[in-house]
Amino acid sequence: MTRYRDFHRRSIDNPEAFWRDEARRIHWETPFETVLDRSNPPFARWFVGGRTNLCHNAVDRHLAERAQQNALVYVSTETGIERRYTYAELHAEVNRMAAVMRSLGVKRGAVVLIYLPMIPEALFAMLACARLGAIHSVVFGGFAAPNLAARIDDAKPVLIVTADAGARGGKVIDYTPLVDEALARASHKTPRVLLIDRQLAPERLNASYLVDYEPLREQFFDAHVPCEWLESNEPSYVLYTSGTTGKPKGVQRDVGGYAVALAASMEYIFEGKAGDTMFTASDVGWVVGHSYIVYAPLLAGLTTVMYEGTPIRPDGGIWWRLVEQHRINLMFTAPTALRVLKKQDPALLKKADLSSLRTLFLAGEPLDEPTASWIAGALGKPVIDNYWQTETGWPMLAIPRGVEALPTKLGSPGVPSAGFALTLRNELTGDPCPPGEKGVLTLNYPLPPGCMSTVWGDDQRFVSTYWSSIPNHQVYSTFDWGIQDEDGYVTILGRTDDVINVAGHRLGTREIEEALSSHPAVAEVAVVGVTDSLKGQAAMAFVVLRDAQAYAEGNTRTKLQDDLMTTVDRQLGAIARPSRVVIVSMLPKTRSGKLLRRAIAALAEGREPGDLPTIEDASALQQVREGLQA
Ligand code: PRX
Repeated sequence: MTRYRDFHRRSIDNPEAFWRDEARRIHWETPFETVLDRSNPPFARWFVGGRTNLCHNAVDRHLAERAQQNALVYVSTETGIERRYTYAELHAEVNRMAAVMRSLGVKRGAVVLIYLPMIPEALFAMLACARLGAIHSVVFGGFAAPNLAARIDDAKPVLIVTADAGARGGKVIDYTPLVDEALARASHKTPRVLLIDRQLAPERLNASYLVDYEPLREQFFDAHVPCEWLESNEPSYVLYTSGTTGKPKGVQRDVGGYAVALAASMEYIFEGKAGDTMFTASDVGWVVGHSYIVYAPLLAGLTTVMYEGTPIRPDGGIWWRLVEQHRINLMFTAPTALRVLKKQDPALLKKADLSSLRTLFLAGEPLDEPTASWIAGALGKPVIDNYWQTETGWPMLAIPRGVEALPTKLGSPGVPSAGFALTLRNELTGDPCPPGEKGVLTLNYPLPPGCMSTVWGDDQRFVSTYWSSIPNHQVYSTFDWGIQDEDGYVTILGRTDDVINVAGHRLGTREIEEALSSHPAVAEVAVVGVTDSLKGQAAMAFVVLRDAQAYAEGNTRTKLQDDLMTTVDRQLGAIARPSRVVIVSMLPKTRSGKLLRRAIAALAEGREPGDLPTIEDASALQQVREGLQA
């Protein structure tokens, strides 16, 4: 491990020297003056004074050498559409999009909210924002109107980019009515909505704020929009993620640090070289999509494959056929997708020619040993688990095969990446844990390049949420439990807070509770994550009714449970829908009124909750047991 150890130590002992070298991977229009500004901890500013642009580095810079190489391969099994864009064509499309946005008033520093399905225009719109120096905020297309409204109010966009519809599993989802409802709910008034009309929605909304993209694209067909050179620390994007409160946090990212970190990760972790093809099966609405569908592969001159559809339609061999057809070298997805594929006919995997594939990367949720062993055996290629968060932007833990081909260890995503001064700490004392002892996974100041700069519009929240939860030390908390072995490999043991992970999607139980509480029949509610063999975790809701009598008879209970699920669909989106709603007459709480969520989760998983010295009324446990049996 000496090569890795030296490499990692260098990045921690002298981050300035380490990252100064790494910064050569990107083009700086104006060189930076200071590698790292540590004057205001816990804030860190990377490459201060340097001017650069993400779009220039991802697109324009490659025109000299790879104008005719594919930059983007787009495949939709929902619409049957397949398109390829060379770097030259991508450049042209991004310029058109940027010109259209500029004509609609988008300027440097303005926010553009992107609410799009997996279509090439999502990638064009993100890069067009980067080109103009505008800040994109991509909202996952599966989120419902109230969720979208909350993000509109927080991000205050000057423009929303949307489509007439998305599609999943053959079902068309109209987007314009959702945007319309969100606009009506939001206090912030967004003047314009740019519409990509895929002609999928049976009935397209007509509203005065809607502007059709296609005629404007024609109008600006030959446009050339120069890149705005941004100071390295100006924001590139805001991406909302769930936490312990009901209010999502806007993770703010910089420009220069992000570009350098992603480019470095492509060499040290992903081993992606210019000319390679990478297929990241995620969504542009998540951080994995931002970093490894859009920016990192393009920064490094790869071809990125963007896929709209599910892994099992038209059949469970579709992803493997994509590998064969497009000679995919690197693939990246979440363990849930593999658990789904594991249930398919194994012959589907054997039928495809997977000789181009070098490595499969998995992240977003714990990789269970049966799935890891199955896929590693079936592919006969390295399967690299990697651990990170929306906040960090790129993997904190992985096997840095580009530095040294360390062995993988089942159950562990690997060792700390460059610049991550990772320490497991005792939750009560804040002291570092010896190897083999469970602790909270923390990062020492400064966070490396690529990590969040702050919470959008709320520096105080950045400090109070992330840097204030460990006693006696100002360190960044990941809110994950972990354990580190003598070799430095870390195993993740679940969240320390009320965040759950359903099919690789991060959800706040508080948000789901708030959605359920908005239903008039609900007096009290607790949402917990329970182990699920397919999705890793599932949300289960325990509800106390206002008027239990009124709902006591016959079918009304089932109808109410359906109603409550629909409420979550409408408020948050179907991805947040609980797998089950259990009606109980009381919830276990402490004497000070705090919900005993861990006890509820234990019961839901059929375990005994253990000693609960602070419980107010122990009969509540029995109520939960009975509710689960009903
Ligand atoms: O709990 C950890 C889990 O997912 C959380 C971050 O989710 P999100 O912000 O959506 O970012 C996903 C980026 C890949 C983490 O706090 N998590 C992520 N990767 C892993 C993981 N848990 C176990 N193993 C992983 N490889």
